[in-house]
Amino acid sequence: MSEAIKWVEKDPLKKNVFWPTKAMKERAWVSDESIYAEAKADPEGFWARQAEELHWFKHWDKAYEFAPQNYKWFIGGKLNLSYNSLDRHIEAGHGDRIALIWEPEPVDEEAVKLTYKELHRLVSKLANVLKGLGVQKGDRVGIYLPMISEAVIAMQACARIGAPHSVVFSAFSPDSLRDRMIDAGAKVLITADGYYRRGKAINLKKSADAGAEGTPVEKVVVVKRLDGNVPMNAGRDLWYHELIEGVSAECPAEQMDSEDLAFLLYTSGTTGKPKGIMHTTGGYAVQSYITAKWDFDLHEGDIYWCTADVGWITGHTYINYGPLMNGVTSVMYEGAPDVPDCGRMWAIIEEHKITQLYTAPTAIRMFLKWGDEWPSKYDLSSLRLLGTVGEPINIGAWLWYFERIGGGRCPIIDTWWQTESGATLVNNLPGIGPFIPTVAGRPFPGVIGRILDAGGSPVPAGEGGYLSIFSPFPPALTRGIYGDMERFKVQYFSDYGPERYYTSDGARVDEMGNVRITGRVDDVMNVAGHRLATAEVESALAQSDKVSEVAVVSRPHDIKGEVPVAFVLLKSGVERSDEIRKELIKTVDSIIGPTARPDEIIFVDDVPKTRSGKIMRRILKALVRNEPVGDLTTLQNPGSVDHLKEMVGYSG
Ligand code: WT7
Repeated sequence: MSEAIKWVEKDPLKKNVFWPTKAMKERAWVSDESIYAEAKADPEGFWARQAEELHWFKHWDKAYEFAPQNYKWFIGGKLNLSYNSLDRHIEAGHGDRIALIWEPEPVDEEAVKLTYKELHRLVSKLANVLKGLGVQKGDRVGIYLPMISEAVIAMQACARIGAPHSVVFSAFSPDSLRDRMIDAGAKVLITADGYYRRGKAINLKKSADAGAEGTPVEKVVVVKRLDGNVPMNAGRDLWYHELIEGVSAECPAEQMDSEDLAFLLYTSGTTGKPKGIMHTTGGYAVQSYITAKWDFDLHEGDIYWCTADVGWITGHTYINYGPLMNGVTSVMYEGAPDVPDCGRMWAIIEEHKITQLYTAPTAIRMFLKWGDEWPSKYDLSSLRLLGTVGEPINIGAWLWYFERIGGGRCPIIDTWWQTESGATLVNNLPGIGPFIPTVAGRPFPGVIGRILDAGGSPVPAGEGGYLSIFSPFPPALTRGIYGDMERFKVQYFSDYGPERYYTSDGARVDEMGNVRITGRVDDVMNVAGHRLATAEVESALAQSDKVSEVAVVSRPHDIKGEVPVAFVLLKSGVERSDEIRKELIKTVDSIIGPTARPDEIIFVDDVPKTRSGKIMRRILKALVRNEPVGDLTTLQNPGSVDHLKEMVGYSG
């Protein structure tokens, strides 16, 4: 059955090394090693050659220009993301191909299929609607939509008229929405009445209303996904289906400068305040296009499924822009993977004959736990390639995915990247390999990645260090933090200087140049593939009037990868109880969203502090992980640690 060649080596990290099958090598866009040397010799020339595959209204004058915190790609070029996603294929005579398949959660509802022409029509109409609402090139538009095709339509419509979108994950709370709308200065918000999740109709409009309050939002476009039975705010709220009814389907794509802002996407940093990551048009288009094509081996007729939510960068780049710029079919699923039962994923793959599946380790671990009986009921032979993203994958999950889902014939492309990078940066290519469990692989051709020690010197193979990306920076790399260029500089360019981007990830490299990501080295957690700062959870909990002090650290979790654990000091007079615990969980739900819920809330009398009064989270982290707590001599209150050891059942 398995065509893949397997090497068994002594190094425990390399017990399993897989190489591409002959079929994969033949089909892949690149299957020759030489691509790495070629791109390395001239990264600018490499990216410029890829850029030629897209449509430009005006060719660029110069490929790359560097200045500290002000690097540019494809200078002087004019293009449009939506034109490249839609018009380009229609002009080439491919307008009747399916662009999008939307699979609703309820099994009695039919999947919706939109051709490139149909999608183009809807996008153009919504683009005209936005213009009619006064949206002009450069104006930011908020999108707070669930996993429905209108999410892609909305992003594309914004791109078409050059209005940067700011998508907010639909499971985020009204408070999160409000902060983002204020920061982005969005005057128009696109949302929906609701959606289905685990059989329940979720009222999204209610959250949108609460979140839009006190923001610059003046108009709210509401997509009717459910029965439409939600209060509409007269003069502000408008139904999407009514608006697009009466408007023209002709909307020429705006000619955007390569360095015009394409979109904002907020992500967690180490502080409590999320940052608006800025992506510009030309570099983002080029890298999204070529990485989608090469990483996932996208060819005409492919039916590709990325299970991420549109609210994350993975959804932006690899549900929407990347696959559509490649002219393939992109699949979106509305709901939960266990509706109506734990076989839903595999049923969707069988039904739509999915060729590539891109998902997260946390999901794979959950499927593995549900058991082999589910995938074995379905025909998964259409699959040709598997992808993973979001967090380090463990060997068990990798091998299960490879054998049970991929039938031993599909390469696993483990893509390491970030919201900031816009597109993948480190992963091996399907036609070249190798595919090694827990190892992402080599930087994508043209990407210069090095693992450095704290002083900035490269570490030898096998040793741990910090992953850094060197100039010429990959074209899609963020151009800044919206409204806070100082934070941009401090966060990414203070450790190693302006020409070496600091990723905040620890990594190791083998002699062949394959990189293994070991995880974040800052106070950013990865909870079920969701990026979250411990400081965000802390500041949410601190808003409760029962809490006097709080510290949050992450703890490893079998399925979710990591989960937050909260140490809470209650105000005097407040009794510790499960009631208070529930109340605190509710507080986190309402301020951030359920993804940020602490896995455990530990009520304590004291937390370890330095003499200057800073909470020593390092010690708390060691305690919940049963790791050595290290030197306690600099503490103001070393006695607190013994007490905590008891509380957490420390055995380290
Ligand atoms: C952080 C970025 C990139 C889209 C999804 C997450 C971690 C991401 C991998 C991987 C190990 C990974 C890193 C990174 N991460 N992909 N394949 N292996 N870790 O985007 O929310 O911006 O999070 O996710 O720690 O810094 P994000």
